[in-house]
Amino acid sequence: MTVTLRTAAVELDSAAVRFRSKKIDVTAIREVSLSVEPGEFVSIVGPSGCGKSTLLKLVSGLLKPSSGTVRLLGEPVTGPRHDIGYVFQRAALLEWRSVRRNILLQAEMRGMPAAEAARRADELIAMTGLAGFEDALPHELSGGMQQRVALCRALLHRPRVLLMDEPFGALDALTREQMNVELRRIWRETDTTVLLVTHSIAEAVYLANRVVVMTARPGAVRELIPVDLPEEREYSETLARPEFSTTTAHIRRLLG
Ligand SMILES: Nc1ncnc2c1ncn2[C@@H]1O[C@H](COP(=O)(O)OP(=O)(O)O)[C@@H](O)[C@H]1O
Ligand SMILES: [Mg+2]
Repeated sequence: MTVTLRTAAVELDSAAVRFRSKKIDVTAIREVSLSVEPGEFVSIVGPSGCGKSTLLKLVSGLLKPSSGTVRLLGEPVTGPRHDIGYVFQRAALLEWRSVRRNILLQAEMRGMPAAEAARRADELIAMTGLAGFEDALPHELSGGMQQRVALCRALLHRPRVLLMDEPFGALDALTREQMNVELRRIWRETDTTVLLVTHSIAEAVYLANRVVVMTARPGAVRELIPVDLPEEREYSETLARPEFSTTTAHIRRLLG
């Protein structure tokens, strides 16, 4: 009899991070164990300074755990990885480059074949509703559009894992809702695994299969909450569901 076990997309086993220098000694995360399935969408919420960004940096290989292990697609993470995409709160676009050339920056950094990169850029521009703005400069775009460009750039090389660190934190409430709907649709159209850090409980629940609630620093997983909502999530209808209110209320209680 053969037993096939699916390799987790992301796996942390008792991962801890302690920052130590002459001046500081901070344990950012104490013990995080978490296994994320391929294609899963996991949101991470927790008090400010509890180590959420540190957790994403561990997964990306930008940081090494002080103890414990981090695996990506079954392999130990030993340094910066190329099969991930990263989106931050600030779109961090190059002001003198057009939308298209900002997206293609990813291809230049990775030495992707130009034709393939151009095709993929067109696909993403269409998918994120940026068609018609290919030649615009960042200052000619709204905050939401700039984040769409950052998302396209992060997805250009078809990363297996997409890390998002408060990507919509700087947007107004309405634009943020639209971005939530778009991100959910884009995630369903690709087979990317997503780890999203957010301060918005509604955003966390609307988007995810599971929500990780962290404790205050030093961070650990306080609770892992499955989101019991249908795959098809029309925005207003989803937020009006009793399961949605129960789950968000539960998370709010955990966060005190
Ligand atoms: N490079 C670093 N050097 C020293 N301390 C750091 C560093 N990065 C983060 N920290 C500390 O680790 C803790 C967790 O930070 P962070 O992961 O950014 O929290 P969060 O994203 O949840 O707000 C904070 O106390 C922060 O000051
Ligand atoms: Mg942070």
